[in-house]
Formats: sequence, C-alpha cells, structure tokens
Amino acid sequence: MAVPRRVKLLLFLLGPLALGIRLLVRYTHGSHSQPAGTRPQPTHVLVLSSWRSGSTLVGQLFGQHPDVFYLMEPVWHVWMTFPGSSAHRLQMATRDLVRAVFLCDMSVFEAYVEAGLANGSGLFLWEKSPALCSPPACSLFSRDQIILPSLCKRVCQPRPPRVVAEACSAYSHVVVKEVRVLGLRALAPLLRDPALNLHILHLVRDPRAVFHSRALLSGELENDDRLVLGARWQAAAPGERPYSVLRAVCQGHLDVFRAAQAWPPTLRRRYLLARYEDLVREPLAQTARMYAFAGLEFLPRLQSWVYNITRGRGLGSDPFNVDARNALRVSQAWRGALPYEKVARIQNVCLQAMDTLGYRLVASEQEQRNLSLDLLAPGPPPSQTTRG
Ligand SMILES: *[C@@H]1O[C@H](CO)[C@@H](O)[C@H](O)[C@H]1NC(C)=O
Ligand SMILES: *[C@@H]1O[C@H](CO)[C@@H](O)[C@H](O)[C@H]1NC(C)=O
Ligand SMILES: *[C@@H]1O[C@H](CO)[C@@H](O)[C@H](O)[C@H]1NC(C)=O
Repeated sequence: MAVPRRVKLLLFLLGPLALGIRLLVRYTHGSHSQPAGTRPQPTHVLVLSSWRSGSTLVGQLFGQHPDVFYLMEPVWHVWMTFPGSSAHRLQMATRDLVRAVFLCDMSVFEAYVEAGLANGSGLFLWEKSPALCSPPACSLFSRDQIILPSLCKRVCQPRPPRVVAEACSAYSHVVVKEVRVLGLRALAPLLRDPALNLHILHLVRDPRAVFHSRALLSGELENDDRLVLGARWQAAAPGERPYSVLRAVCQGHLDVFRAAQAWPPTLRRRYLLARYEDLVREPLAQTARMYAFAGLEFLPRLQSWVYNITRGRGLGSDPFNVDARNALRVSQAWRGALPYEKVARIQNVCLQAMDTLGYRLVASEQEQRNLSLDLLAPGPPPSQTTRG
C-alpha cells in the first residue's frame, strides 16, 4: 500500500515541475516566440545619438527589458573596417547593416570580420546585450534578472552570427543603439520599408557637457573623429578638431530633428526626441515615456533597477560604465570644469542646435558657474514630436 502512495506523491511532485520546466524553457527563449508565419511583426527601435550623450544608459534601459533583443553600436564594424573612409561615404553601408540587424540577418557581419569577429572576440560590446548573455546564446543567465555586462563577459562566450540571429528571432522588439549615424537622409527609405516597423528614438545632450565628457577620454574617440571629419581631419589643426567634430555632431542632430518634423503625420508618432538632462532629472517618468513609445511594459523590477542606477554615487572610474554614477551631478560637471572661453566657442559652433533643442546659453563665466541658473529650457513642444 505504501508503494503506490509514494508513486502518487512522486507524480504529484513531478507534474508541476515539468510544467515549470516547460514554462522556463518558453520564457528563456523569449516570451513572444511563436511558429514562423504567425509571428506578429516585431517593433524596431533605433536609438539614434552621438558619442558621450547618455546612449549607453538608454541602451541598457532597453537592453535589460525581457522583450528586447538589443545590439549596441553595430556600425562600429563598418567604420573600423574602413578607417580611412568617411561617415558620408559609409552611410549606405551603414543603412544596409542596420536594416539587416533589425531583420535578424546577422550574416551581414561576415563582410566585416576583420574588425573584431575574426579572432573570436565576437560582436563589438556583445556583453552589453542581455539577449547574448541568456539562452540560446548563453545558459548562465535568464531574462528575469538584470544581467551585468562585466559578469556576462567573464562567464559567457561571444557567439557567431548564426547564434546571434537565432537569439534575435525570439524577441518581439529589436533595439539598436547607434552613434555613427549623422543625419536621417540615408535612413529615410527604412521608414517606408514594409519589412520594418521602424521607430526613431532621438537622444540628445547639452553639447557643452558632450564636449567636456569627450575631452576626458583622451584619444579613445580618435578613429571615430577621423571618419566624422573625413578629409577635413588632416586639414584641421589638432586644437580645432574637437570643435569641428562637435559642429558635425550638432549639425547631425539638427538634421535628424528637422527631417522628422517634415515627416507626414502618419509617420510622426515613430519619432521621439529625448534629452539626456530630462532623463537624469526624472528617470522613472522619462523611462516610462520611452518604453511607451516602443510599446514596452515598464515592469516593477525594472522600475526599481532604474531608480537604483540613477542614484549611484561618484563619477565612476570607467567612463563607459553607466552604473553607480550620480548622473545628475555628472550632467552639470562641465560648468565647473570648462573655461568660459571654450564654452563660448562651443555655444557658437552649436548655436542652432542648442536653440532648437532647448539648451540656454550662458553669457559670462559668472552665469556658467552659478548652478542656481537652470540652463535647461523647455524642449520643443511635444505636439511637434509626437503628433502631426
Ligand atoms: C582580438 O581581440 C582582442 C580582444 O577583444 C582585441 O583586443 C584585439 O585587438 C583583437 N585583434 C584583432 C586583430 O582584431
Ligand atoms: C535596488 O536597491 C535596493 C537597495 O539596495 C535593493 O534591495 C534592490 O534589490 C535593488 N533593485 C534592483 C532591481 O536591483
Ligand atoms: C545666481 O543665479 C540666481 C538665479 O538667477 C540669482 O538670483 C543669483 O543672484 C545668482 N548669483 C550670482 C552670484 O550671480
């Protein structure tokens, strides 16, 4: 009599366990995986920004969402394969790569194997993609947790394009963060591409803070700066280059903003302007706004995480690490650090972009150092950025 009872008990225990495993497998392979053909069209979000503008943080906000396959700066592979070229010449290759990535066609990277993939180091910054740190790419993490890039890099392996594509196909949202797109002209056809459901999240930051943050990097951005300026790089005196690069960056942001304003009303809701300063002032509200734009739910554990990471202490030792930093303090650091003469030049170089995006100019060193003076003006009215 005792034996059947034990068997019954065993079955009683095994039932929920099997169900649990099934659910776990389904969950870890993406909550939206469905048979091909019946799969709803994924949402594609391009986080369009420039260097040192908070895009690592915004990328992580999307990347950690369990419905998102995220890739950070895939165009790096194009730019590093053609270091003597220019941003302008590479813009069509850039467009093709971005389109392929959105469609989870990662074979596109085979054209750029020399830069990174050849020696087995994988995609540029792959460890910042939680989807590449969890099944099917790596079995050591699951998407119901926050995955730290440093930990992922230590315990997971970079995966070949085929596995990256398999991971990508399991998600309802594909988000790409890119800083190497200076303008929307080349990308415009992607908005009407029936294979895509492209949304542009345009992330901008006060150019004075960008300039200061770039100056702290000393040389790490030189390859990119060469491509931004193309032939103008050689022609410019070294002391002039930071201003020339910033001019191109500001012009790029202005072009993106203006191009989006000219879209027909049906496309207008596919564009969202986000300012880094607004994000650090009200991280939860602004993250909610960005998630809503992308059609993502702001899960409670993500709310708790966002709250935590935007209230860390100190400036952080690794400039590309967004955790444990007081983002609000960092966003004002330039006001104490930059000499006023440089600030005046930056304002001159970026005048139109600052005026359009809502960054107030300072007219003296006294104004610059006076932190009671709020330099953030209201942004362009939402009616311009979300409705027709
Ligand atoms: C190979 O990978 C390592 C580690 O990521 C990197 O430091 C090195 O520059 C790469 N070498 C080449 C030739 O790409
Ligand atoms: C946020 O920080 C609190 C306090 O340190 C911690 O208990 C909580 O788990 C953190 N939340 C997340 C999602 O990391
Ligand atoms: C700083 O700015 C505030 C607000 O405009 C102003 O009231 C104050 O007088 C300024 N302080 C100095 C030292 O300029």
